[in-house]
Amino acid sequence: MIVTIDGPAASGKGTVARALAARLGFAYLDTGAMYRAVALAALRRGAACDDGPAVEAVLPDVHVEMPPDRVLLNGEDVTEAVRAPAVSRGASQVAAVPAVRAFLVPQQRRIGLERDTVSEGRDQGTVVFPDAPVKFFVTADVRVRAERRCQELRARGVDTTPERELAELVERDRRDSGRADGPLRRPPDAVVVDTSGRTAGEVVDELEAVVRGLVGR
Ligand code: DC
Repeated sequence: MIVTIDGPAASGKGTVARALAARLGFAYLDTGAMYRAVALAALRRGAACDDGPAVEAVLPDVHVEMPPDRVLLNGEDVTEAVRAPAVSRGASQVAAVPAVRAFLVPQQRRIGLERDTVSEGRDQGTVVFPDAPVKFFVTADVRVRAERRCQELRARGVDTTPERELAELVERDRRDSGRADGPLRRPPDAVVVDTSGRTAGEVVDELEAVVRGLVGR
């Protein structure tokens, strides 16, 4: 069974998706990390992430694997490397390249169908798993998201401010929602969850209750 969780950057969806998967005994698939791995591969090859043909040319040499809680790029563990701010920006750019989506979407379907999975991203309930029996759209006020992203980056030693993260998020939201292929959209049949002012634990309680109520698991 697939549970999808879509939503904008820094909405808290990653944290709650991972925790929900653990409570249900499901695998967790972080599809954003797959776009990040492609961006990292492009950047390492000196390709600009907004140059579609240059990014497409990198794809034959990209092999992404998603073992639990890790991201492997051609066998190398890049779990930490894909969290760098330049890779975040690049991921949202390569995600607008149709060839990249055509490359990753079938891989996501294959991974998701291997076992019960909570799959998190932007298009999981709309494009990748449109028949998923439970879908969530997790969001939060953009200022709350900017504050969270700032704290997360500072904890990892990155020097930033809430204002800078706000500008970055507004730009990423615009790109993620505005692209033609697989844009960030709320699936019409999704349960909408606003995480502003709530703890991750409270949100996960709600998600778990919805899943158990809908499918009796
Ligand atoms: O969830 P994240 O911030 O790690 O995602 C990184 C980028 O990847 C994000 O800006 C949009 C893109 N993405 C996407 O287009 N489709 C997905 N299913 C997941 C992420």
